Amino acid sequence: MAPRKLAAGNWKMNGTFAALDQIDRLAADLPTSGCDVLICPPATLVHAMSARAAGKLAVGGQDCHAKTSGAHTGDIAAEQLKDAGATHVILGHSERRTDHAETDAQVAAKSLAAYETGLVAVICVGETEAQRDAGETLDVISAQLAGSIPEGATAANTVIAYEPVWAIGTGRTPTNEQIAEVHALMRERLSARFPDGADMSLLYGGSVKPSNAAEIFATPHVNGALVGGASLKAADFGPIITAL
Ligand code: G3H
Repeated sequence: MAPRKLAAGNWKMNGTFAALDQIDRLAADLPTSGCDVLICPPATLVHAMSARAAGKLAVGGQDCHAKTSGAHTGDIAAEQLKDAGATHVILGHSERRTDHAETDAQVAAKSLAAYETGLVAVICVGETEAQRDAGETLDVISAQLAGSIPEGATAANTVIAYEPVWAIGTGRTPTNEQIAEVHALMRERLSARFPDGADMSLLYGGSVKPSNAAEIFATPHVNGALVGGASLKAADFGPIITAL
């Protein structure tokens, strides 16, 4: 099995019920090219979006707790996301790692909770600008992969997103050679550790837009994108999906 192509949108803390109009516009114009399309809205919109998307695209959460229930004010369990219609959950996004001090071990525990619930974990890794400048990128990515992906990961339950922290929301992107270097490393590490690691989908994320999507998608081992800002409007996300 070859890795599945996936265009994933992360709405982050953006969007109210009115924004679901974008889903109607996107769904009306989706290409039938065989790539999967996923949108991860704020938790408040997961149920309404999955009803509105009606099987045309997948809907996911942006985080989940490692536990199934309990006294965890403000958190959300994988089962609750699934109950609301989610099929995926983003885990270990750099904004969670920075704003909430999430560690690799916590990301791995959350990923296990996702697997046990039947959600696909979209596990994010990425270096800071200081780490890249110090020549530490490949070591950082290797360590995050080793620590954040639990045993039991398969091509069916796991997607990996490489998101250089310095490229997120900045309009800056790595060169194709830099993306290719990291994706080749990820493919090698995953293939060495998991029986079907060669088939896991690998996404690139960080300032993907209609004008650079095709070039990024042409990079070896890039099977799609995790898109932030440009996923908020169907007019931007649509062409990115088409480029894949
Ligand atoms: O999850 C998405 C990424 O953080 C990329 O965000 O496309 O706005 O740079 P961006």
